[in-house]
Amino acid sequence: MDLIVLDPTQDPIEDNLEQIPLRQHPPHKIHCFHKEVDPDGICWLTFDTPESPANVWNADTLDELDGHIEELHRDSSVRALVIRSAKERVFVAGADLKKVGQLSGEGLHELLGLGQDVFNHLESLRIPKVAAIHGACLGGGFEVTLACDWRIATDHDSTRLGLPEVMLGLIPGWGGCTRLSRLIGLPKAMDLILRGKTLKASSAKHFGLVHHVVAPENLDMLARQFALKPTSVRHHHFHFTQVWPTPQILRVKAKTMLRAKFPWMRHMDSAPMMAVDVITRGATTTFEKSLALEQAAIRKLAISETTKRLIEVFFQREAASKKLPPTLSTQPVRKITNAAVIGAGVMGSGIGYTLASKGARVLITDVAVEALAKGHGSIHKLLHSGLKHHAISEKQARDLGDRISLTSERVPLKRMDLIIEAVVENMNVKKKLLADLADRSGPKTILATNTSALSVTEMAKAVPNPGRFLGLHFFNPAHLMQLVEVIVHDQTAPDVIASAMRFMQSIGKVPILVKDSPGFVVNRILMPYMLEAVRLAEMMRDPWELDEAMVEFGMPMGPLRLLDEVGFDIALHVEHTMRAAFEGRLPQSSLLTKMEALGMLGHKIGKGFYIDHDKKGALHPNRDILALTFPKEAPLFKNHEAMANHLHSFMRTEAALCLAEGVAASAQDIELAMILGAGHPPFRKLFSDLLPNLTGSDHEKHP
Ligand code: NAI
Repeated sequence: MDLIVLDPTQDPIEDNLEQIPLRQHPPHKIHCFHKEVDPDGICWLTFDTPESPANVWNADTLDELDGHIEELHRDSSVRALVIRSAKERVFVAGADLKKVGQLSGEGLHELLGLGQDVFNHLESLRIPKVAAIHGACLGGGFEVTLACDWRIATDHDSTRLGLPEVMLGLIPGWGGCTRLSRLIGLPKAMDLILRGKTLKASSAKHFGLVHHVVAPENLDMLARQFALKPTSVRHHHFHFTQVWPTPQILRVKAKTMLRAKFPWMRHMDSAPMMAVDVITRGATTTFEKSLALEQAAIRKLAISETTKRLIEVFFQREAASKKLPPTLSTQPVRKITNAAVIGAGVMGSGIGYTLASKGARVLITDVAVEALAKGHGSIHKLLHSGLKHHAISEKQARDLGDRISLTSERVPLKRMDLIIEAVVENMNVKKKLLADLADRSGPKTILATNTSALSVTEMAKAVPNPGRFLGLHFFNPAHLMQLVEVIVHDQTAPDVIASAMRFMQSIGKVPILVKDSPGFVVNRILMPYMLEAVRLAEMMRDPWELDEAMVEFGMPMGPLRLLDEVGFDIALHVEHTMRAAFEGRLPQSSLLTKMEALGMLGHKIGKGFYIDHDKKGALHPNRDILALTFPKEAPLFKNHEAMANHLHSFMRTEAALCLAEGVAASAQDIELAMILGAGHPPFRKLFSDLLPNLTGSDHEKHP
C-alpha cells in the first residue's frame, strides 16, 4: 500500500526547480548517448559509451544526460522518454569507481553531488519516463531508473538489479536509499541495501523493483507501450512503513543484528551502520532532507581507508574474474560444453550443479548408488531453493535439471571436454581413478582433480598425457564460493590452463593460478592459524573466546568453529600432508587427535568444539573437551584484540612464505584467494608493507 502526498503544490523538487539556475554544460568531448525522437513523440535515449563494453556514470556522462534532460524540459513536442542501453550485457554498471578512488576534496564532492542533481532533474520531467533495462543495472545504474516512472527488465541472465554499494564501503547516495524505501517500504529496502544484494529480473519484480519482465527481443515494444500509457505527474510516495514507530524499531533491530553478526562494526563508521541511519532517519523526514542525509554519509565514507581498500579489492576481483595472467593471454582456449564430475558427494554434486547452472551439460558418476541418490537430493534442494528465492524460473529450473544426468555405470567419456574428479581424499584411489579416466576419455579431454591438499604432481604420474591434467580446487559450498584455485604442475600445458581458467570465469568463478605445493594457498595459510588456535585452546579455561576474538576481528567464523565445519578427519589429513612438508614450523597439540579418537569429528556428526543441539543449527560450546585440556591459571592474552593479532600473525607469516616460494604470482592474488576462499576481512591487510621474517619466528609473542 502506498500513500501518496496529495498536494502537488507542495512538491519541493518542482518548487526548487524554478529557483535553481540552469547548469552550465561543457561542450561534450565524447558522445555517450544517442537521442532519437520517433513519430509518436517518444524520445529514445540510448546509452552507448564508445569503445567500451560497459556504461558508467562519471562527471562527463552525467553532464551529457543532464543536457538531454534540459532539452526535454524545453521541448513540448516530446510525449515520453525511454532510457535504454546499447550494450550487450550492461545497462549502467554504476558509478565510475576508478574516479571515486582517484578523486579527493572538491572534485569528489562535486561528483557525489552531481548524481543526485541529475536524477532529480530527470524525475522532474513532466512526461512518462521508462527505464528499459537489459544487462547489469547496479548502484547508480539502478538509481537512475528509480527516478523513472516505469522499470521494465529483460529476463536475460546478464540482467541484474540492485544497490550493492555497501559491499564497497559506500551507501546508495544518488537517491537510492530515499527512493527505494519510499517505493517498496523500509523493511524490504533495508534488506536489499544492507545485504548489497543484486537480483535477477524475476526476483526484482517479486521485490517490487521492476514493473514488468520481458524477453530481450520484446523490450523495445513493451517500453513503447509503457511510454504511451498516461502517467499522472509523479509525486514522492510515502510508504506506510515510514510512519512512526516502524523506522525507530527497524533502526534498533538492524543495528543490533549488525553488531551481533559483524562485531567489528562496533569500532568503525561502517557503511551498513550508516545505511541504517540514513534509511530510517530519511524515512521520517522530507525527501530533500533524506537526500541530504545520503550525501553527508557518502561523503564521509568515500574518503575512508576501508572504502578505498574495498574498492581496490573490487578491481582485483574484477581483473581476476575477467582477465588471464599475461603469460596465458595469447593461448588458444577450448570451448567446454560437456563435463563429467566423478563422485556425487558434497563437492561433486555442488560442482555438477554449478557447471549446469551456467549452461554446461553435466554427467555425474559415483561408484555408490546411495551416494548418487544423496547427490541427486542435494541438487534437487538447490533447485528448490533457487525457485523459492526467485533466483530461477520454473523453466530455468527444468532446463537446468535436464542438463544434469547421474549414473553409477561405467559410461563412455570420449566426448567430454572436461572431467573433474571429486572422490575421497586418498592418493591411491585418485591415481587409480585418473589412470582409468585418462583411458576412457578423449585425447583432448581436460582432466582435473578437486583435491584439497594432495600433490597434483604426484597424481599427474598416473595420467599418460599429463599436459592435460591440473587441479581445480572448488570451495564448499561450490555453488556459492567464488574462488577456484587452479593448480598446475610442471607439465600442465598452457592452453589447458588458459581453457580451464576461462571456463571458470565463464561460470562466474574467480580462478587464481597456484603452483602445486602442500595445502595450495588457502588451506596452507589457514592450517597454522587453526593449529595455533587448537594449541591455545588446550591451555584456556574458555577456548571459545578464540572464536569470539576472530569474529570481532572480522573473520566470518573463528578457527575452532571453522575446524568443526571442515571436519576433524579432513583437517587432520591436511595437517598430515602439511606437516610432512613443513615439519618444525606448525604448532603442535594433541587435542584434535584426542577429540577425533573419541568420535568427535565436528559439525558432520554434531559434535566437535561445539555441539549442534537442534535441527536449526544452534551451536553450544562442547564442554566435554575441558576434560582433555590443561588450562593455565592466568589468562593468556590481555584482551581479544591481542588474541586476534596473535592468531592473525600465523596467517601473515604463512602468506609471506607462500609469496616468497612463488606459490601464487602476487600478494594481491594471495589476498584475494583468502578473502574469497576463507572470508579474510578485506579491510585488514594480510601483507604488511614490510614482509615478516620468513623463518616463521615473526609470530606475535607466543604465550
Ligand atoms: P564425499 O565423501 O562427500 O564424496 C566422495 C564421493 O566419492 C562418495 O560419494 C564416494 O562414493 C565417491 N567415490 C569414491 N571413490 C570413487 C570412485 N572411484 N569413482 C566414483 N566415485 C567414487 O567427499 P567430498 O567432501 O565431496 O570431497 C571430495 C573431494 O573434494 C576430496 O578430494 C576433498 O578433499 C575435496 N574437497 C572437499 C571439500 C569439502 O569441504 N568437503 C572442499 C574442497 C575440496
